[in-house]
Amino acid sequence: MPLPPPIVPDQPWTALAPMQDVTDLPFMQVIGHYGPPDYFFTEYFRVHETSRLERHILDSITEQTTGRPVFAQLIGHDLVHLRRTIEELLKYPVAGIDLNMGCPAPKVYKKNVGGGLLRNPDDIERVFDTMREACPGLFTVKTRIGFDDTSHFDRVLELVNQYHVDLLSLHGRTVKELYRSEVHYDWIRKAREGVNCPMFANGNISSAAHCAEIITYTRCEGAMIGRGAIRNPWIFRQIREHYAGQPVFAPTLADVRDYVDRLWVATTPVRPGVPDNKRLNKMKKLLNFVGQGVDPEGAFLKEMRRAREVEPFFAICDRHLGGERASEPFSCEPYEGVVARPNCEVPINTADGCRL
Ligand SMILES: Cc1cc2nc3c(=O)[nH]c(=O)nc-3n(C[C@H](O)[C@H](O)[C@H](O)COP(=O)(O)O)c2cc1C
Repeated sequence: MPLPPPIVPDQPWTALAPMQDVTDLPFMQVIGHYGPPDYFFTEYFRVHETSRLERHILDSITEQTTGRPVFAQLIGHDLVHLRRTIEELLKYPVAGIDLNMGCPAPKVYKKNVGGGLLRNPDDIERVFDTMREACPGLFTVKTRIGFDDTSHFDRVLELVNQYHVDLLSLHGRTVKELYRSEVHYDWIRKAREGVNCPMFANGNISSAAHCAEIITYTRCEGAMIGRGAIRNPWIFRQIREHYAGQPVFAPTLADVRDYVDRLWVATTPVRPGVPDNKRLNKMKKLLNFVGQGVDPEGAFLKEMRRAREVEPFFAICDRHLGGERASEPFSCEPYEGVVARPNCEVPINTADGCRL
């Protein structure tokens, strides 16, 4: 079954990668403001005996106003409850149902869900069988190239074909490689040669030019981008401009300052009483990526990470992104050596418990 049409026909497709604790409704709206991807994916809905559809994730399907289709992602392996959850989700305007088969957090994979499924293709077969039958529309899968090696790679691709998966998003790392190793684009290309459905290449795509390189190399239909879109929310618009042969939007530091304000609004707590420092920590987690393109010395990152209160935090943003610096360019590729370090003062473990 074909996907809903992308924004521009005849261009590679784009998707915002699902990111727990990041790709909620307000973040999708912010990305929509700067230029939406063709497709969104929700944070994952947990599926188990007592699970219920989480309201805030449902909101990202029902309330977002970007006009772009949203796939609902599930994590689980209990066949009865997968079926029940899919039935419940199909009452909402989802573009399709996506299986998370890549989450590398030990507390997740030890339950044989997420990336843990990749250890046992027989389990994958049972899950695919159930989900395919429960999904009259699009059934999509997001996975990695293996658990600790690629020994089950061919079998997984066979199952993707056997169960007529409608779209495969492939992060070119094993589960054990987490988020920071090199990305094995050669395995993404191999998968593209072996599966019948369209594919999204995923992993470290950092700019429109890099995206075009990866699309050409892997021959995938599209690119799925996560951290690169937190860092540079203009990336989907830039990719469209690149392929249309138009000048690619070049953001300035003033544009980044505007983005900081929008992120601040997006991190407004839903419930009153959430302390400011929690909100500040979330901002630091997001700006940890943005800071990679602000200055080659990483000075903004260093200072921003040290801020303990809201006022000094914004003063640092104003100093580095406003005033005389406002018209300076924001680097669309991260500056060499300026890394989103996991060992900064703010723990930037993802909600699924993984170091980025
Ligand atoms: C903060 C964070 C949360 C994530 N949560 C999810 C998730 O809920 N579901 C999922 O399939 N992948 C999740 N991922 C993995 C991303 O979707 C993506 O595969 C990975 O970050 C590699 O792409 P990137 O280099 O473009 O970020 C998460 C990644 C990050 C950084």
